[in-house]
Amino acid sequence: MQIMMIGDIVGATGRRMLKDTLPGLKKRHAVDICLANGENAAAGLGLTPRLAHEILAMGVDLITLGNHTWSRRELVERIDTLPQVIRPANGPASWPGQGFKVINHPAGKILVANLLGRVFMEPLHDPFTTMDLLLEQAREKQQIPLAVVDFHAEATAEKMALGYYLNGRVTLVVGTHTHVQTADERIMDRGTAYITDVGMTGPFEGVIGMDPASSLRRLVEHLPAPYEAAGGKGQFSAVVITADPATGRATAIERIQIRE
Ligand SMILES: [Fe+2]
Ligand SMILES: [Fe+2]
Repeated sequence: MQIMMIGDIVGATGRRMLKDTLPGLKKRHAVDICLANGENAAAGLGLTPRLAHEILAMGVDLITLGNHTWSRRELVERIDTLPQVIRPANGPASWPGQGFKVINHPAGKILVANLLGRVFMEPLHDPFTTMDLLLEQAREKQQIPLAVVDFHAEATAEKMALGYYLNGRVTLVVGTHTHVQTADERIMDRGTAYITDVGMTGPFEGVIGMDPASSLRRLVEHLPAPYEAAGGKGQFSAVVITADPATGRATAIERIQIRE
């Protein structure tokens, strides 16, 4: 089975890159299931229900989120009506929506979970033990060997630690959030595919996808500036893994990055 995970879709440029690139790539890599992080799809901050539908219509099967999950009020109100959108699982119990989802694919069931890191980020519940509970709950009643975890985290070490923690228990641990693709993709010794960060699908000429002038005003002049997505050329970032639905083990991981 071929599973694709696309990194943070940022603004209109990210959505354009997705629309232009995804159909051809899905064909070339014979992708069975396509996942994407959509936390920056709405002009760089959050996701709206309308944009969720737009991204799903482009060929994405499930959208994951991150620290910008609740940036759009519409999503707080409507996430429960969007079964193909999941938010981080380790937030407070008051959060609407679901932290994981089981996709029923003809080739096999697949569990997809979304977690937030705690290092250099707002500290939520422990992502490690949250994942233990979640795997226990989800796998208790049904056989689900395939599992993908989108770990939305800042610190490389925290992401690598989760990779080792889940090695042999899930099919893929994929990092998101930094928007810069890392060149450390690998298959760990117990069959878990891993990459520290899959990278961004959005404007290449920006500060992690955001307008450079606004970033400089905030970081150099220390004055307020609008938080908006950059324009210009775009890039598409993803990984495709090959996995065995019978064992849940990954046998290959390939990094994809396309720039205009
Ligand atoms: Fe992001
Ligand atoms: Fe993020």
